[in-house]
Amino acid sequence: MATQLAPEAPFTYRTAPTANEAFEAWLAANPQAAPHHTQPWDVSASAIYVEDRWGPIFAEMRAKAPINKVTGTPYGDFWNVTTHKAIQHVESLPELFSSSWQHGGITIGDPPEGTDPAKLAERQMPMFIAMDRPQHTGQRRTVAPAFTPAEIARMEAEIRQRTGEVLDSLPWGEKFDWVDKVSIELTTGMLAILFGFPWADRRLLTFWSDWAGDVELTLAPDLADQRFEILSEMARYFQGLWMERMGKAPTPDLISMMIHSPAMATMSPLEFMGNLVLLIVGGNDTTRNTMSGIVHALDQFPDQRALLESDPSLIPNAVQECLRFVTPLAHMRRTCTADNELFGQQIKAGDKVIMWYLSANRDETVFENPDKLIVDRPNARRHLAFGHGIHRCVGARLAELQLRVLLEEMHERKMRVRVAGNVQRVRANFVHGFRKLEVVLEKR
Ligand code: HEM
Repeated sequence: MATQLAPEAPFTYRTAPTANEAFEAWLAANPQAAPHHTQPWDVSASAIYVEDRWGPIFAEMRAKAPINKVTGTPYGDFWNVTTHKAIQHVESLPELFSSSWQHGGITIGDPPEGTDPAKLAERQMPMFIAMDRPQHTGQRRTVAPAFTPAEIARMEAEIRQRTGEVLDSLPWGEKFDWVDKVSIELTTGMLAILFGFPWADRRLLTFWSDWAGDVELTLAPDLADQRFEILSEMARYFQGLWMERMGKAPTPDLISMMIHSPAMATMSPLEFMGNLVLLIVGGNDTTRNTMSGIVHALDQFPDQRALLESDPSLIPNAVQECLRFVTPLAHMRRTCTADNELFGQQIKAGDKVIMWYLSANRDETVFENPDKLIVDRPNARRHLAFGHGIHRCVGARLAELQLRVLLEEMHERKMRVRVAGNVQRVRANFVHGFRKLEVVLEKR
């Protein structure tokens, strides 16, 4: 079958709004449906992230009630788990605290109600991040070979070259948006290389990833169909790439690697698609937002920027510290499968348990002076930005490589990035980062 990549292909993505624009338009048209968050510890409210005022709320919870239940929120009732130790504990018991999409999946938003089960199963593309053992184990194995230390080392030269090209294309001394020109450009470029994805279409990866990963959309039932359409188009696009590579000799890209993996024989086409989507979403806004967050954090702490500039051997540790400080995924969700006690709290089967990585990474019992960026922090590596346990991020090494190379190439060019204008954060309780970050480049 020929692929459907022709420019005239009738994909609505060519004209559709971004996920954020669609949600904002929906809210403007349905003001009465705006989610109401009335309780002080209802940290599902996206306003606290867009306004960057989440820190003291989580600090209060860690001090007074590190595991607490909030009821009657737009996302229903849920448990907040806010400390480093408790989150590691929950992630270490994957049978008791399930990731399975059949139980509700890995984000705070539930699938829309009132839809028939067949449609629901279709909407919830099966992905191994939202599966429990044993299915999780088998499917993770299909992609894990793409992220071994040897594979990552193989990718370094290409990532370095691409990073250098992007940095060399930037204007010095004039204001521009770092998110658009650097973070999105580098992240989509890397994913295009990883998947062997058509280069000219790489920005679609950002568009799709935003529609797939925007948890708040689950509060807007009217947008569910549009989201489904867009994600179906994405699936068709990937199906084209898949068919193109089927029956051909293996190539080093991830799609070919998955096709030739032994586990492919036991994977349905829908599961294959689901796992591709997982990779583009997993690797996309997370890395993008860290690339923006690093620049923002170094600008907030000029003493740390000066230290890093004077000693580039600190870069690998600074990457870990920035991951801790930024925490590009604010939470992951689990659903409890049996009544049990969690650090003194009675959790019931069926309860929604939200692990706030954002809070764990500011846990003062683990990280001294946690609200300060400290590029030579001795235990920065203990951050939970990549999660913990069997679902720990499979792409962590690749993300670390991209971030390290970015800092190294900036150092090479004596590039200092000063925040110099509009800073807009993402309005979401899951993805944590920046929509816009205006900066000016200076020579140090
Ligand atoms: C899983 C964060 C980059 C692919 C995860 C999880 C976290 C995370 C917190 C754990 C999910 C859980 O416990 O439920 C991040 C961050 C990144 C990043 C902060 C960048 C800074 C990437 C990249 C890729 C990727 C570059 C691939 C291209 C995945 C996949 C999973 C995952 C496939 C599922 C693993 C499993 O369920 O076994 N990521 N990620 N991530 N990540 Fe990442």
